[in-house]
Amino acid sequence: MTKPKVYSTHQLFEEARKILDADCEMQYWTDSERPPRDEVLRRVKDKEGLVCLLTEKINEEFLRSAPKLRIASNVAVGYDNIDVDACTKRGVVATNTPGVLDETTADFAWALLMTVARRVAEGELLARSGNWKGWNLDQLCGADVWGKTLGIVGFGRIGRSVARRASGFQMKIIYTDAVRVSEEVEKSLNVEFRDMNSLLGESDFISLHVPLLPETRGLFDAPKLLRMKPTAFLINTARGPVVDEAALVAALEGNKIAGAALDVFENEPFIHPGLKRPNVVLTPHIASASIETRTKMAVMAANNIVAMFKGQRPPNVLNPDSLKK
Ligand code: DGY
Repeated sequence: MTKPKVYSTHQLFEEARKILDADCEMQYWTDSERPPRDEVLRRVKDKEGLVCLLTEKINEEFLRSAPKLRIASNVAVGYDNIDVDACTKRGVVATNTPGVLDETTADFAWALLMTVARRVAEGELLARSGNWKGWNLDQLCGADVWGKTLGIVGFGRIGRSVARRASGFQMKIIYTDAVRVSEEVEKSLNVEFRDMNSLLGESDFISLHVPLLPETRGLFDAPKLLRMKPTAFLINTARGPVVDEAALVAALEGNKIAGAALDVFENEPFIHPGLKRPNVVLTPHIASASIETRTKMAVMAANNIVAMFKGQRPPNVLNPDSLKK
């Protein structure tokens, strides 16, 4: 029996390759650099399946280049790189990798929060520089985390995992979301609901956990940043375009907020030069990057592909209507 032809824009991890190689005729992009767009479009011409990263735009142009495509399996939970409606119209199933990266991403959001508050990156630089002259009373004094107020914007799985970490630091935890969670969940996590403006005014730390949607693009704009306390910090491990980067730079330059810690950026891999300041911690979109979690994500993406070609429903379908075509 002929196996379905599948292209993967990354060589993935061995665990995922084993799953794919058993049931599919695989072609992998193996360079460490991301593949050029032209190359990907050329490779997918005869493919029925695709494993892609969030750096690939699966849009009309892409779908036109892949007329035989039946499934696009994203190795990420966020899928703003995929035009899901365009996939549905063409009967292409789109899948993602939810659930497996929540705790790992929450760990990293926490690491960023601690790093920016306690000036860990600045301290590390000083310690390595050879210029450290020894202990001093007012050296690199940062902000306390324990006992402060944490505002969580977007109270899905990752937002809730961050809340669980904050409890250990005796923080007051408030959240905002389009939908308020049940009283039971609020009680169990020791969190209180706020509307956005109240959250902005009360929080010492604000951590973003919303997906990138038309309504969340530019959500943190100048007026919102100006409502934050001048002593507050903004943490973003969600998606860069949720924050208006130019407005954030202006807020930082004007000392309207105390600092920021960012893992994601508006136009990755470009980083606005105005963000390269001592009170901003910058990391290259690695919040889910533990070996365990990235392996699980790749395995999940592989299982979505294999299920599809075995005639089963892939476990993480984003557009169930595509299955009706
Ligand atoms: C995702 O999965 O959406 C993250 O941004 C990368 O892990």
